[in-house]
Amino acid sequence: MSLPDEKQTGREQNPKGGGDSGWVALFFIAGLAASLAFGWIVFPKLLYSKSEQPFQFSHVTHADAVGDCESCHFFREDGSYAGVPTLEQCIECHEEAQGESEAERIFVEEYVEQEKEVPWKIYSEQPDCVFFSHAAHVKGAGMECAECHGDIGESESLKPYEENRITGYSRDIWGKSIGGFKKNSWDRMKMDDCGECHKREMGSKGPCFQCHK
Ligand code: HEC
Ligand code: HEC
Ligand code: HEC
Ligand code: HEC
Ligand code: HEC
Repeated sequence: MSLPDEKQTGREQNPKGGGDSGWVALFFIAGLAASLAFGWIVFPKLLYSKSEQPFQFSHVTHADAVGDCESCHFFREDGSYAGVPTLEQCIECHEEAQGESEAERIFVEEYVEQEKEVPWKIYSEQPDCVFFSHAAHVKGAGMECAECHGDIGESESLKPYEENRITGYSRDIWGKSIGGFKKNSWDRMKMDDCGECHKREMGSKGPCFQCHK
């Protein structure tokens, strides 16, 4: 890019000159501020589409009613993980109304009575090419749920599900921070985050086929 001819910028007619560079600096700062705002505030909003879960659900209420996590999130006999609960874990109580909340009304009318499974959206869902085993981490390594999932187990409501419009990944994989910074172990779960812990705990990031089968 060539610099503009001084005559065209009118600098000769303006011997003091300071005005021009002041404007340039001002435009530069305004431009920088606008692009930072776009990159850090607007872009993430455009990049992710938000949707609500089918209805609200409180872990706090259910921890009281049920008592433990395993009634709903358990290992099957073959060692595989059941993951999010099916209606079977709910009907025992919800065949009869437990309260008067709107969330429970939707749940009972649209799912329990119609014997339809709830299409839960999975915050932590990895792409299909990734192999993950709860047994290795929870039973093998004795890890707590919160180490990877944060405080969902103690939450009173389910946050909206956010999906990356380009990759289709859940936002919980990349994390809230668009720059990819993390403070807590559960803030993001990219390939590097799995690998970092494997290196720390087992001395190596492991071969590709450990996580990609
Ligand atoms: C009464 C059944 C029930 C009990 C008990 C229960 N949960 Fe849940 N859990 C659910 C439902 C329903 C969801 C919503 C599914 C979703 O996130 O899409 C959920 C979601 C989760 C998720 C998020 C999974 C994801 O990535 O979307 C985590 C983590 C979780 N529960 C942990 C726990 C922990 C820890 C406990 C024990 C303190 C617990 N849950 C007890 C029913 C239960
Ligand atoms: C041990 C009994 C029990 C089981 C099992 C159970 N619930 Fe509940 N559920 C309750 C009670 C008690 C309430 C509180 C009702 C109130 O006071 O409004 C509740 C409330 C709810 C509500 C209203 C919002 C909230 O969380 O307070 C929803 C929705 C709900 N349950 C869905 C489910 C689903 C889905 C499952 C299965 C994964 C399930 N429940 C399993 C007892 C149970
Ligand atoms: C080492 C990290 C780690 C730990 C510890 C962990 N999880 Fe997960 N969890 C994941 C990952 C990663 C996924 C997504 C797996 C996938 O998409 O293949 C997941 C998925 C889930 C799901 C949704 C599964 C589905 O598809 O239905 C639930 C529910 C869940 N975890 C609950 C728990 C609970 C409860 C505990 C504690 C007993 C726990 N997790 C411990 C990493 C972990
Ligand atoms: C905070 C630590 C930690 C994180 C995060 C973590 N892992 Fe692990 N992972 C472990 C440990 C420890 C083991 C060894 C468990 C054992 O003793 O068998 C393991 C084992 C495994 C295994 C081997 C299971 C087997 O028996 O073949 C796979 C596959 C795996 N992890 C995948 C993943 C993936 C995928 C992620 C990220 C989504 C992940 N892990 C995140 C700690 C972690
Ligand atoms: C410890 C588990 C782990 C190991 C080992 C691992 N990966 Fe991954 N990989 C993941 C996870 C989790 C993702 C999804 C999240 C992401 O994109 O970071 C992923 C994503 C990818 C993707 C992007 C796929 C897509 O659909 O976007 C590629 C390509 C890939 N891995 C290649 C490799 C190669 C090549 C190796 C060996 C050098 C390897 N991976 C080793 C866990 C692992």
